[in-house]
Amino acid sequence: MATLWGGRFTKETDRLVYNFNQSIGFDQKFFRQDIRGSKAHVRMLAKQGILTEDERDAILNGLESIDRDVANGTLPIADTYEDIHSFVEAVLTERVGEAGKKLHTGRSRNDQVALDMRLYIRDEIDETRELLAGLLGTIYEIMKANVDTYMPGFTHLQKAQPVTLAHHMGAYFEMFRRDAERLLSIRSRMNECPLGSGALAGTTYPLDRAYTAELLGFDKPCANSMDGVSDRDYVIEFLGSLATVMMHLSRLSEEIIIWNSNEYKFIELDDTYATGSSIMPQKKNPDIAELIRGKTGRVYGALTALYTVMKGIPLAYDKDMQEDKEMTFDAIDTTKGCVRLMAGMLETAAFNAPRMADSARGGYTNATDAADYLVKKGVPFRDAHSIIGRLVLKCIEKDIPMDDLPLAEWKKECNVFEEDVYEAISLKTCVKLRQTTGAPGAMEEELAACKQYLDGISTCTV
Ligand code: ARG
Repeated sequence: MATLWGGRFTKETDRLVYNFNQSIGFDQKFFRQDIRGSKAHVRMLAKQGILTEDERDAILNGLESIDRDVANGTLPIADTYEDIHSFVEAVLTERVGEAGKKLHTGRSRNDQVALDMRLYIRDEIDETRELLAGLLGTIYEIMKANVDTYMPGFTHLQKAQPVTLAHHMGAYFEMFRRDAERLLSIRSRMNECPLGSGALAGTTYPLDRAYTAELLGFDKPCANSMDGVSDRDYVIEFLGSLATVMMHLSRLSEEIIIWNSNEYKFIELDDTYATGSSIMPQKKNPDIAELIRGKTGRVYGALTALYTVMKGIPLAYDKDMQEDKEMTFDAIDTTKGCVRLMAGMLETAAFNAPRMADSARGGYTNATDAADYLVKKGVPFRDAHSIIGRLVLKCIEKDIPMDDLPLAEWKKECNVFEEDVYEAISLKTCVKLRQTTGAPGAMEEELAACKQYLDGISTCTV
């Protein structure tokens, strides 16, 4: 048990207390960010004349050697230290001697951990955006290839009107696009540097906070040192955005599960993305989609947990805030994994286009268009609605799509019908005529906008 604060204590910490209090078990996750922050701090201390250039160089070399040795496995992160900050400082002092003891000048673990967490979350925001860009690319490819793949659009999970697979997937493109944009806006709001806030009230050393902020890629230092050490809003915002990503992934998973069911057969998942049953030889289960849907719960849990942790904390730093880490890390890893798996599952899946089109026809999704046909020939819409309603009933009794009903039967209900009704209610016509912005007949416009977004997101340096 090695701590940074033994001086005023006369007894060893109780073992249970030590275990309960330690964070090295999980804060080693931001080891690299901790090194990065310390390097910037030390550069600034030397620039301000608080450390000599020799001391600076000794510390920088020491920090680099620690970084390297942890990465190549020759320096294991020992759990005998209270937290990652104590570990780095102890090893540094071991390696570079007296200079190492000066690293923490003008700094507290409170602003140090606030910085590490911010750097970590910022990196994770960038990585999540990249993964979302990959998923958006996959969705875009499916859209492009399926502009003429007709399928039923649903309301109340009842077949409603014909759409295309391109249009259906386009709705998910929009959801994940908003997610990516949301991340960008969180990033710009959180990009302020807490380093230099000290324990809570700044420090008496002449620190150049703008300089460390710049070295670490922040827009500026946090404006208030008490807020600097105790703000975790950006973690909550990030978790909120991850919860929304998971909600979207979960909805898509639910669709995939339905489409993959024996009854629908709209989609066949690839063998590499499905699993079997230990007892029923015929089974091929959509476990990955189900797990994505299920894991949404733990991401919501992390968000709720942190909201609850933060709601009663008086200014400035309190140890409760150590609880901002484990569930957050889990939520980030979970969401990133799910985004990756969703992209892989979609890329490898096979859509059954004929089955989708048959389903759209069999579900009378063209009934609205049949009514519109009459309206165009001068029949009032309300009359047209009821004429088509009776015709649908007739088709249901015969168990045929409207497309297969002989013209004589149409004419029995209303003699305005002619041979051209079949063309008017074909899935192709139903989709083609819906040309308002955002409708399935206007896919060219929508695809162009998606492409433009994708081109921008890959060149967007945040
Ligand atoms: N492990 C602590 C955390 O995660 C680091 C800050 C410790 N600060 C302190 N005053 N004990 O919040």
